[in-house]
Amino acid sequence: MVYPANVHVSEHPLIRHKLSLLRNKDTEPKKFRELVREIAMLLGYEATCDLATMPIDVQTPLATAHGCELAERIGLIPILRAGLGMVEGIWELMPGAEVWHIGLYRDHKTLQPVQYYNKLPVTPTVQVCLVLDPMLATGGSAVATIDILKNWGAKRIKYLGIIAAPEGIQLLSSKHPDVDIYLGAVDDHLTPLPMKPGDPPQGYIVPGLGDAGDRQFGTA
Ligand code: PRP
Ligand code: URA
Repeated sequence: MVYPANVHVSEHPLIRHKLSLLRNKDTEPKKFRELVREIAMLLGYEATCDLATMPIDVQTPLATAHGCELAERIGLIPILRAGLGMVEGIWELMPGAEVWHIGLYRDHKTLQPVQYYNKLPVTPTVQVCLVLDPMLATGGSAVATIDILKNWGAKRIKYLGIIAAPEGIQLLSSKHPDVDIYLGAVDDHLTPLPMKPGDPPQGYIVPGLGDAGDRQFGTA
């Protein structure tokens, strides 16, 4: 499949290996959380390959070495709930990153995102925002979050997701073509929208992994 240039799908063997464990329906919440953290770290490594640096000198035991340090303040924006599990992995790479939570859930009938939490400060405090959410399904939650960040004044935004559906990639990259999208895998399709009230919740990624929030927090 050919994706727009802003879409980066990892081919890293470690991510592919860990994803298979994550997808397994028998993987318990504790192991599931560990895998989300580890995959987030690996995706974070790939997604931060173009961060700006500035030169610094450091004194080694032998001499002065010409090194560098990150020049930009990084903000992690986990989409509650499921994005929370990705924070620890990225924090292991960048312990100084600020974390700003956005709370959204999908209405089960319409699949539209409903915002319930946002405590962003009045003006942006970071130069680069990494939006974290394991699942990019219809793309509604990602688009709504990035709308919020852009209205806030964020200039540089990257999206990190573990599994995406083609429908979500299409929506996100059409609404926000300036946002780089880093993914662990792209799956086949979404289950159909509910046909009538009372139908079971739909809009799940196939084969996917089920409900990422429920599987992390043991609430299935
Ligand atoms: C899941 C997931 C995304 C959203 C993706 O969250 O973590 O935020 O669905 O779906 P979309 O691309 O169609 O918007 P959910 O609404 O289930 O909330 P939860 O994380 O609190 O379980
Ligand atoms: N949210 C999930 O947690 N899983 C899906 O498959 C789709 C949305």
